[in-house]
Amino acid sequence: MSSLPERLVLVGPMGAGKSTIGRLLARELGYDFVDTDRLIEERCGANIPWIFDVEGEAGFRARETAMLEEMAGRSRLVLATGGGAVLNPDNRPLMRQGAWVIYLKTSVDQQYARTRRDRNRPLLQKDNPRAILETLFRERDPVYDEVSDMTVLTDHRSPRSVVRELRDAL
Ligand code: S3P
Repeated sequence: MSSLPERLVLVGPMGAGKSTIGRLLARELGYDFVDTDRLIEERCGANIPWIFDVEGEAGFRARETAMLEEMAGRSRLVLATGGGAVLNPDNRPLMRQGAWVIYLKTSVDQQYARTRRDRNRPLLQKDNPRAILETLFRERDPVYDEVSDMTVLTDHRSPRSVVRELRDAL
C-alpha cells in the first residue's frame, strides 16, 4: 500500500488476539491504540460483565456503537473492536470509513484455548463455552469476511509474527 490508512480496524472473534496485536501494531506504526471494550469499561466505570448484568447485552451494544461513532473521527489510530461489533449493520460503515479493516481469523480450538480461563466475557460464562464459540463463529465468520479488506490467520503464531505480516502488507 503506498500510503498508510488513517485508521486500522481489527475485527475477529474473542481470542483472536485483537488487543495484543493491535497494541503492538500501533507501537510499530506510531499510531494511537484504542480497544473499544476497555474504553467502554473506562467510561462506564464498570467491567463488561457488570454492564451485561445491569444493562443487558442491548445496553452494551449501544455503548459499543457510540464508541465506534466516536472513533470514526480519529486519525492515526489502530482500533481493536469487540468480537460482536460487526453484528449491527449500522456499525459496519463506521468501522470501514477511511479505514483498512483487518480480520484476525482464528480457529475455534485456539479461541477456546485463549479464552477458557477468562471471566470477563459474559457470553462465555455458560455451560459449554466451546459450543458457544462454534455457533458464534459460524454466524460471524461470513460477516468478518464481508466487512474486512484483508484476512490474517493468527493460529499458533506469535503476535509479533502477525504484526510483521501486517506491516509488510501495509
Ligand atoms: C463479545 C466480545 C468481547 C466483548 C463482549 C462481547 C462478542 O470482546 O466485546 O464480551 O460478542 O463476541 P473481545 O472480542 O475483545 O473478547
